[in-house]
Amino acid sequence: MSEPVVLGIESSCDETGVGIVRGTELLAHVVASSMEEHVRYGGIVPEVASRAHLEAFVPTLTEALADADLTMAEIDAIAVTSGPGLTGALLVGLAGAKALALAHDVPLYGVNHLAAHVAVDQLEHGRFDRRVVALLASGGHSEILLVDDIASDVTLLGQTIDDAAGEAFDKVARLLGLPYPGGPHIDRVAADGDPRSVPFPRGLTASRDQEKHRWNFSFSGLKSAVARHVQREQLAGREVAVADVAASFQDAVCDVLTAKAVEACRVHDVGTLVIGGGVAANSRLRWYAEQRCAEAGLELRVPRLGLCTDNGAMVAALGAEVVRRGLPPSAATLGADSGLPV
Ligand code: KG4
Ligand code: ZN
Repeated sequence: MSEPVVLGIESSCDETGVGIVRGTELLAHVVASSMEEHVRYGGIVPEVASRAHLEAFVPTLTEALADADLTMAEIDAIAVTSGPGLTGALLVGLAGAKALALAHDVPLYGVNHLAAHVAVDQLEHGRFDRRVVALLASGGHSEILLVDDIASDVTLLGQTIDDAAGEAFDKVARLLGLPYPGGPHIDRVAADGDPRSVPFPRGLTASRDQEKHRWNFSFSGLKSAVARHVQREQLAGREVAVADVAASFQDAVCDVLTAKAVEACRVHDVGTLVIGGGVAANSRLRWYAEQRCAEAGLELRVPRLGLCTDNGAMVAALGAEVVRRGLPPSAATLGADSGLPV
């Protein structure tokens, strides 16, 4: 018998995503982003994001069904992000998912956004056949996860204690006069810079941090160090070497992210590292990850960029695993949980 067809709905931040999968086969993947509306504010405005989800929901769903050449009658289950994320944004996806589940009499599964970022890799590289470590780095999160079973057994090893990695990229870009969102701009500008030119700090890597913060990240000190460096140069009447500063900052973030993720694989005796989140697009991050995984003999899995950033296919991918395990559907009272733990 073929595996059930699962529709996934994502609305935790600024992307309205609808994906459709059959097991680990991707049938449709449509994303509408409200990023352009947030650019002029220099960050995500929750109210604007919620309204945009409301407008994008039906068109995104319609397009995904058309791409998969399916009707709602052929959908076996619906998965929706119930958290973590912006409450108002999550509620739009949840309301839409519940209405569809009721109208078409299919089970509804609330799923965790962070676990979904990991599950999506299975659409590209096949089912995990052993435990994996996942590194998630985006504008909203920076976590290291230990995944024994993607549907039911995911452990948070560590996370950022202040800014998320992507948030640090966005804030530093602003300091350097680059547009929002800053990650891609820093990546581009850094290509002409020397990553060793400014020795920026590597947060939470000192030996005194080993016990409490071994798997945690901190990027706010790094951001302040960049601000101080820029100020010093300006006060001295020197032109800020934007490419060098961008390259050095980017190197500091990516060095720490990959060093801790690879170390987590070693300590937990895991042979596969999965990377997800928008920062996975970063060229330096990929370079470090490739080097270090090769050195440590680890399999490195990075889904294609369109699946790394927020989307509905990742929610459908996790939903399909939950259905496959025979786990119970969510109650009709399923609500948004902005701080949902993994
Ligand atoms: O996963 P995502 O699309 O949305 C969430 O935040 O959940 O990630 C967006 C973040 C932004 O902070 C953006 O600056 C960062 O990912 N980003 C990058 C790159 N492309 C996007 N950061 C570093 N280098 C990049 N090439
Ligand atoms: Zn995300």
